[in-house]
Amino acid sequence: ASSIEVDVTSLTPGMSLTVKWRGKPVFIRNRTPEEIKAAQDVPLADLKDTVARNANIAADAQATDIDRTAGKDKENWLVMVGVCTHLGCVPLGQQGDFGGWFCPCHGSHYDTAGRIRKGPAPENLHIPTFQFVSDTMIRIG
Ligand code: FES
Repeated sequence: ASSIEVDVTSLTPGMSLTVKWRGKPVFIRNRTPEEIKAAQDVPLADLKDTVARNANIAADAQATDIDRTAGKDKENWLVMVGVCTHLGCVPLGQQGDFGGWFCPCHGSHYDTAGRIRKGPAPENLHIPTFQFVSDTMIRIG
């Protein structure tokens, strides 16, 4: 099947897990309030890529914090394809200058909303089609 379901019951704030979907890693993170606030506080003008890159909303939606997440009342949840938009390495979590993800291959720094902030990657980490099918279960794909 092209979709998978992931139980996120065990992910308390500050915890992540990586699942495989269509041969790629997908990062699921339950963000802390501090991570959410840090991402919300970033002006869009500071972003290298101002497009949300979120398959669940309009293709030209802006990369606001909420539009990078599972949405209203679920903005603690980030679900992203774990593939650097530069040349496809897998970034490391909770590292780099912006406390989000860091790609060691050529030094791309992503923030706590998975948005590219520094380094050669051209785009924010992509957000796959997903939805919460219950309070604790996410369907990807
Ligand atoms: Fe990530 Fe080049 S592949 S910085």
